[in-house]
Amino acid sequence: MRVYKEKDYNAMSRRAANIISAEVIRRPDCVLGLATGSTPTGTYKQLVEWNKKGDLSFAEVKTVNLDEYLGLEPSHDQSYRYFMQSNLFDHIDIVPDNTNVPNGMAEDAAEECRRYDELVKSLGYADLQLLGIGSNGHIAFNEPDSCFRKETHVVSLTENTIRDNARFFASADEVPKKAITMGIGCIMAAGRILIIASGANKAQAVYDAFCGTVTPECPASILQLHNDVVLVGDEAALSLLPEEMFK
Ligand code: GLP
Repeated sequence: MRVYKEKDYNAMSRRAANIISAEVIRRPDCVLGLATGSTPTGTYKQLVEWNKKGDLSFAEVKTVNLDEYLGLEPSHDQSYRYFMQSNLFDHIDIVPDNTNVPNGMAEDAAEECRRYDELVKSLGYADLQLLGIGSNGHIAFNEPDSCFRKETHVVSLTENTIRDNARFFASADEVPKKAITMGIGCIMAAGRILIIASGANKAQAVYDAFCGTVTPECPASILQLHNDVVLVGDEAALSLLPEEMFK
């Protein structure tokens, strides 16, 4: 595992964007696994800038997103489809049909989960999977649990996650209580994982994920079993990690 400790959010974003762009340059038709949340917005901004400059093209890239709120229309400004359009897809040369986000409005959510699993599998899984981390150690919307769920599934969000995400909504009551999330199986099947973390409120989760026991109580801890993980964080988020991890 390689760890990059960057001085602040901007440096973290630039490093993460560099790693993604290296993948796209090396393999122009790669499959990128993408994440939402406040952490990757700076990374996407940097990718947009390089695309606009003509240094990086997404013309052949395919994407698979991790998750989506159940019951939010793609046009809802807090849906993850909307997030991806406004932060990345609308500003780069990607083919719209090559972008995939679970459908939070599917009539049959269980069927949508099966469809999404099949889709990700048929694409050969992500070559590079970008992840954020929740303050409770969640990845995508795989919440702390008594077991790891392998497949794409419907999840009930924890109080902690609803509280964390309430800042994007008018109130906590408006945060959807359920979501569709890629399971641990698809995430772990990615060729390479790039996990990014920013801010002191992520420090404990990052420590538990990479220095603690591998347990579904901290879903990100499963990444200790993946053999190609890159962690990029700012000083605050990585403050609890021991020095030897940076060598
Ligand atoms: C959200 C998303 C995750 C994200 C995490 C952290 O709920 N489902 O994919 O990594 O929470 O979000 P943020 O980057 O805003 O802290």
